[in-house]
Amino acid sequence: MITSCKPKHLPCIQLINEKAGFKKIKDDDYTIKVYEQEEVEGFYILKYYDKMVEIVRLIVDWVFRGKGVGSALLTDIILNAKIRGVKRVEIVVHEQDDYSINWLLKRGFVGVGVEKNYFKERDGYLLRREL
Ligand SMILES: CC(C)(COP(=O)(O)OP(=O)(O)OC[C@H]1O[C@@H](n2cnc3c(N)ncnc32)[C@H](O)[C@@H]1OP(=O)(O)O)[C@@H](O)C(=O)NCCC(=O)NCCS
Repeated sequence: MITSCKPKHLPCIQLINEKAGFKKIKDDDYTIKVYEQEEVEGFYILKYYDKMVEIVRLIVDWVFRGKGVGSALLTDIILNAKIRGVKRVEIVVHEQDDYSINWLLKRGFVGVGVEKNYFKERDGYLLRREL
């Protein structure tokens, strides 16, 4: 089930985030939702702009990958974006993460280009999907 993130979920999503090798999530004006069965299996963090939404994180805990959790979270992102009248979705992934890049390309995203020094020690790769 996908639900809005509550304070009790925060330690869990910080842990999943850290295990996936991303920088600590800072407080910001974010929309966060979790996919939860007996425990949190994955989550997303969004930042909405005028006609665009940035996927700040979309991460499934590695033990739960490959069973549709990521797809369910992405579908929820797209559905809510359309409801809000958003026209474009953007995400930056680790530049050498071929698996995630291909996963997004299969789901309607197109590669835009490399973002130099986007991550602490790595470049990012920007992908975009028009709605
Ligand atoms: C990219 C990521 C979010 C995918 O999450 P996931 O839960 O493993 O994704 P899914 O299970 O929906 O899809 C993975 C594969 O499992 C398959 N699958 C297996 N069972 C499935 C089911 N019941 N329903 C849907 N897909 C299923 C899918 O077909 C898919 O294969 P495909 O890409 O060849 O179509 C995950 O690998 C991740 O967290 N990566 C690291 C974080 C990251 O870099 N995030 C940013 C980039 S998105």
